[in-house]
Amino acid sequence: MATLPTLAVLTSGGDAPGMNPAVRAIVGVATSLGAQVVGVRRGYQGLIEGDGAVIGPRDVDGWNRRGGSILGSSRCAAFRTPEGRQTALRQLQTWGVGGLVVIGGNGSLTGAQLLEQLAAAEGVPLRVVGLPASIDNDLACTSLSIGVDTALNTIVEACDRILDTASSHARTFVVEVMGRDCGYLAMTAAVAAGADGVLFREAGLDEEEILSQLEQIIARAYDPSGGKHRVLVVKAEGVEISSQRLKSALDARLANANLPVETRVSVLGHVVRGGAPSATDRLIAGRLGHAAVRAVERGLSGVMCGWHVLQRPGAPTPPMFDLDPYVTFWPLDTVLRETERIVDGSSEITRWRVRLLREAAPFLSA
Ligand code: F6P
Repeated sequence: MATLPTLAVLTSGGDAPGMNPAVRAIVGVATSLGAQVVGVRRGYQGLIEGDGAVIGPRDVDGWNRRGGSILGSSRCAAFRTPEGRQTALRQLQTWGVGGLVVIGGNGSLTGAQLLEQLAAAEGVPLRVVGLPASIDNDLACTSLSIGVDTALNTIVEACDRILDTASSHARTFVVEVMGRDCGYLAMTAAVAAGADGVLFREAGLDEEEILSQLEQIIARAYDPSGGKHRVLVVKAEGVEISSQRLKSALDARLANANLPVETRVSVLGHVVRGGAPSATDRLIAGRLGHAAVRAVERGLSGVMCGWHVLQRPGAPTPPMFDLDPYVTFWPLDTVLRETERIVDGSSEITRWRVRLLREAAPFLSA
């Protein structure tokens, strides 16, 4: 007997390349198991407004190669209220939905947990499963979130291009990349692009320390004895000093130090979030989508599917199915608690990322 109820799927928060392949996989797997899927438009906002329709494999054909979220996404203030969540729950009941898959980041999974708790308190049979999707890679209990690989590739390609023009004009570039609360993209892009410096909030440097480090990097690079006469610094959005302010302060400092170097700033912004998903993102999204449907089928609820989480020897093994050794299932409260620690810098993962960067990338200054 089929144990898979009608599903609903929504994408929420900042869109991430790979959301569409995840939806496509959910629709494909659920349909093959005999269940229907309601595609909810515009995230929790659409859920509250009843904006959704049953979608089948034909509807999602080609979604694996499309960027953004075709279902649409939102940051929904109404869903943060108890009344908004009540309305959302009633809507799911109206559609006859017994399983909800939420694809999104920190805020979206917080919403998923609150909705799951509400359903449980009211005795509504609803299983809620989250999939991690955020280019920032700031979620715990998953080594990668959907969208990170594509965003990283976009940044590295942009840096390669900027290095061409930086070298031609012997200039110093500060390239700002997204990552409000987490420097992961800046750190990994700096390594992959062969940058000379990287700035991220977790390093905990004040403005004076940042400027002093940049001056040293620039002095070294432009030194006639074998310098390279160009500098690339990748800066995370989350660093408190704005890129324009940094440029002004740096220019003043370089003038003072008699280092006549031209500087430029390039803020990549939302360019980093768009574009067709990479092959890796398509594959991760597809496998997480498959796992989400299987999780609902097997009665799991209030969990997030994590991708390839390396376990410390001796640590308790999280639930996983025989079907995909790369996917483990984590209670949402664990995910959200640990994510908080990644964001505030107290997480072992954050400390490990910073330590590894310093030790394994000696060409980079942070
Ligand atoms: O999705 C996360 C993120 O890309 C952050 O890195 C960034 O600060 C934020 O979203 C931007 O959000 P919005 O698109 O709402 O301006």
